[in-house]
Parts: sequence; C-alpha cells; structure tokens
Amino acid sequence: MSFTPYDRPVRAAFIGLGRIYDLNVRAYEHNPDVEVVALVDPSEERRAQRQADWPGAATFASAAELASSGLEVDAVEALLPIPLHVEGVIELLGHGWHVNLQKPMCNDLASAQRMLDAAAANDRVLRVMENYLFYEPLRKLKETVESGALGEVSGYHMKMVGSGRGGWDVPTSSYRWQVQQMQHGRGVLVFDDGWHKLATALWLFGPIKEVRAWIGRSEVVPGFDVDAPTTIVWEHESGIRGVWDITLAIDMYLRSDYYTNDERWEVTGRQGYARVNRCTGRGIQQPSLEVYADGEMRAFHALDDDWASSFRDSGRHWLRWLHTGDGPLLWSASEAVNVLRFALAAYASSEAGGSGVDPTSLA
Ligand SMILES: NC(=O)c1ccc[n+]([C@@H]2O[C@H](COP(=O)([O-])OP(=O)(O)OC[C@H]3O[C@@H](n4cnc5c(N)ncnc54)[C@H](O)[C@@H]3O)[C@@H](O)[C@H]2O)c1
Repeated sequence: MSFTPYDRPVRAAFIGLGRIYDLNVRAYEHNPDVEVVALVDPSEERRAQRQADWPGAATFASAAELASSGLEVDAVEALLPIPLHVEGVIELLGHGWHVNLQKPMCNDLASAQRMLDAAAANDRVLRVMENYLFYEPLRKLKETVESGALGEVSGYHMKMVGSGRGGWDVPTSSYRWQVQQMQHGRGVLVFDDGWHKLATALWLFGPIKEVRAWIGRSEVVPGFDVDAPTTIVWEHESGIRGVWDITLAIDMYLRSDYYTNDERWEVTGRQGYARVNRCTGRGIQQPSLEVYADGEMRAFHALDDDWASSFRDSGRHWLRWLHTGDGPLLWSASEAVNVLRFALAAYASSEAGGSGVDPTSLA
C-alpha cells in the first residue's frame, strides 16, 4: 500500500446516518483534521436530521450518487448495517476512498479476504475501528498490567450482562438487521457486541492458540433470539488464559446513556488484581478502574469513563493517522481478521461440543 498522508484537512463523508452516527460524529466535531463534505443515507428523514450538524455538506441517497456527483472525497466513515458491510466496503474502496468501518467486519473469512483484496486493488486503507481500545479505563488497565504492578499475570475474566430495560432507543430497523445476522448464526451478544470483548483480549494479551466455547440461545420475543447463556475460554500463546461469560437479565433495569450492557474486565496477577467496573452502561457505579495490590486498593476517580468518548478518540486517531500515517491503526483490516478468527473459533468449538480450536487453523 502506497499511502501518502494528507497535508490538508481530510475531506470526509458519512455513509449511513443511523443510531451510531450520534457517537461517531464526536470525532468530527471541532476537529481541524477534517472537513465533512457529504452525508449519505437512503432515508430522507435521516439526511434532513443530520444536515443540521453539517449545513455545508452535500447529501445523497447512495454512495453511487455521491461518487458520480464529482465532489472530492478522501475518506468515509462507513456506518452501514452489518449485512451490507462486505459489498458496501468493496464499493466504497472502488470509488477510491479510504474507509473507516464499524465492527463486526463481516461474517466469514472468504468475505474478509474479498475486502482486503479490494483495499489492495484500489490502493486504499481499510480500517476496522475498535472504540473499546480507546476507552480510557481499559487503556489504564493495559498500562497497569504492563507496568508490572500486578506481578506476572495469572489470568483474566470478562463479564457481560445484556439487560432489557433502560438505555437509549434503538430503531426497529437496527433490530431487523440483527435478526438477519442471528439467522446466519452471528448473534448480537457473541458476535456483534462481543466483537469488542474479543478485540480487547487480543489487544491486552496478544495472539490466541486455543478457544473453547459453549454458545447458548434464548428467545427474547417470538422471532428474536439472542446468543446467551454463553461461556468462552481461551489460551493466549503466552499461556495466559481468559474466560468470558455472557448472561441475559431481560427484566433488569440498567442505567445507561447508550445500550444496556453491563460489562467488566478483571485481570489477576501473582500480586494483585485490576478491574474495570463498567463501560457502555453504568452498572457498578464505583470508580471505573480499581487496582488491588499488597493489601491496598487504589481507585481511579478521574478517568474519562463516558463510553462515547471512546468513539471520539478512536475517530480522532483515524483522522490524525490520515495526516501522519504514523503508529498502529487500531485496527488495520488484517488485525480485525484476527478478531473474526477468534469469533469463528468459538463457533467451531461450540458446534464440536466445546473442544479446543486453534483460530489460525480455520480456512
Ligand atoms: N462500535 C460500537 O460499539 C457500535 C455500536 C452500535 C452499532 N455499531 C455498528 O454501526 C453500524 C451501524 O449501526 P447502527 O446501529 O447505526 O444501525 P442503524 O440501523 O441505526 O443505521 C444504519 C443506517 O444506514 C442506512 N443505510 C442503509 N443502507 C444504506 C446504504 N446502502 N448506504 C448508506 N446508508 C445506508 C440506514 O438508512 C440507517 O440510517 C453497524 O455496523 C453496527 O454494528 C457499532
């Protein structure tokens, strides 16, 4: 890839103006690295709503219309429904635009390869953004682990509870895409939101050599199932083991400004432990990071633990990267394929009754 950083603000377009636009837009507001030139969505209502944020941007019902308009665009923020990611990204790269894509990248390895090939063929950058890697309490957790404050790491645990009450409104159209994904065996907890948890495991402790999983299914309403209860365990190449449990508490009210997702990460070392108490929702309303060692608990009260800030910082990182080309993309498309492999290994293990699967062995 022969990427040349821009020596001027990046001309950007949003492709998809639905629910998650509300958080991704934070990277673009008051940012001298970027100029938002276009907004694309087939919904006239969405275009009119988002135009208020960017009165100078042109609006289009499709990416093809934008491409044929002659308007110059360098990079796009792809906020498309998941089932449209593969064909959508191939089209966007084909128009000659760099792409910042939402997770999950796609459902299978063959599709991922097509996306990587399209980026190479068009000499464009495909990034699969991972906002969790920019959540300050998780960044501080990583820093704490790497500082040696916990001693040698013995293992870690992630927990996620999907609750049915609280949070912001999710449009019915978003659920329609989720039903479609579930019908293809890619559920909202393990694969969609879970993508983030798998990503943090790789980011914290590196490559994984074996995954074992037991993926369940529960009906929420007739016609809509979710993939809980689920337990996934794995071992990194370093020998560190992780475990992630997903449960459903459908009648539980969870205070949240966003989705109703109660999450925790807890790393145990030979000398102590560190725990991130929450992320998307406001489950445990204590300081978002606590570190215990040698009989003392240290609590971090001043971290930016608003989940939305992780979108802002991930997006800013991308826009800055387009200016400099320096440092890791967090994630590059090929790093995102490792997250996909991790998820696919969990499915393969569960189907085989929980036996160990090496993610690199999947074809
Ligand atoms: N990072 C996160 O934590 C996070 C959270 C939620 C959603 N997401 C991801 O964001 C993406 C969008 O999710 P959402 O919740 O905003 O969905 P949504 O259904 O609310 O919005 C999707 C939007 O895309 C538009 N659209 C449909 N076809 C289009 C096309 N061909 N061209 C342009 N626009 C089109 C729809 O009209 C809609 O406005 C998904 O990939 C999802 O996985 C990420």
